[in-house]
Amino acid sequence: MSEFVKIVEVGPRDGLQNEKTPLSIEQRKSFILDLMQTGLKNIEVGSCVSPKWVPQMANSTDLFLSLPKDKHINLSLLIPNLKGFEQAKAVGCKEIAVFTAASESFTQKNINCTIDESFEKFADVLAQAKADEIKVRGYVSCMVDCPYEGAIAPVQVLKVTQKLLEMGCYEVSLGETIGTATPDRVKKVWDICLSEIGSHLLAGHFHNTYGMAIANIYQSLEQGIRIFDSSISGLGGCPYAKGAAGNVATEDLYYLLSNMGFETGIHLDELMLASKNINKVLNRHNPSSFAQAYWQNDK
Ligand code: HMG
Ligand code: MG
Repeated sequence: MSEFVKIVEVGPRDGLQNEKTPLSIEQRKSFILDLMQTGLKNIEVGSCVSPKWVPQMANSTDLFLSLPKDKHINLSLLIPNLKGFEQAKAVGCKEIAVFTAASESFTQKNINCTIDESFEKFADVLAQAKADEIKVRGYVSCMVDCPYEGAIAPVQVLKVTQKLLEMGCYEVSLGETIGTATPDRVKKVWDICLSEIGSHLLAGHFHNTYGMAIANIYQSLEQGIRIFDSSISGLGGCPYAKGAAGNVATEDLYYLLSNMGFETGIHLDELMLASKNINKVLNRHNPSSFAQAYWQNDK
């Protein structure tokens, strides 16, 4: 049997949080309903952050409530603090994600606090989540470079990741936030992290600004990472990382993994339909190389 790779689809959150014109709840819902047909088992639906900071993600709990629940699909929400946690809990969300960074400057710009202060906020969230049996995923941004500080020491990435795991996150996703890294530098981060942490606890979240995301994922696979975040059609970026492009496109990740013999659970026709529909709504060109070849050659 082929080895399974877990994919966390972050298009509805990371993908849409940076769109100039926020989509309506109906449009976001229709996007997620399409994604729920693709075989993707983990979908980050939105975030419970301040709507003043990220208006695109406003009303994510209404969106969550409007979605049909399927016990085989994890629908999660990103939250920065206890207020966000309470909102997610109130709509019956069973999985949330907390987020900090390996860079002080990025943490300050993104969530308006220091890294240590972010841990203090998460301690309350994790304690409450444990009591409520809500699973918590962690994100650590700037695994290689920070848009404000430049190169980040891999040991700092390890420290922040270990802290989130000790606090009770079941898995931590390392964000290559601005997409500047090449595989040699990604390798150094995994070398240090994997010397202390099991690969089953770590995920890779690669943005594709310089077209390196697939190369970085290949490097990560070589080192034993089997969990990746991706965004359909490479949607996205981070509002607090100017110029950062979207995540690796789910279509390209599918092509890499399926051709390397990994199982992903993705149904290709449904994935391509979801991709076609969201690009139409956003009136954008799909930068995924696989998607371009697929439409040119196969259809
Ligand atoms: P703050 O101003 O320090 O917070 O912001 P505060 O506690 O002083 O509250 C200020 C106001 O925000 C108050 O409202 C609060 O009620 C409200 P006011 O009294 O002014 O009307 N507020 C909230 N509203 C809704 N939901 C909440 C919430 N909390 C406070 N949960 C805060 C701190 C964290 C809220 C703010 O900085 C924020 O919302 N930041 C958003 C950051 C964000 O969403 N960034 C993008 C996601 S991270 C990412 O993309 C990286 C990732 O993809 C990995 C990678 O690529 O590296 C994960
Ligand atoms: Mg991201």
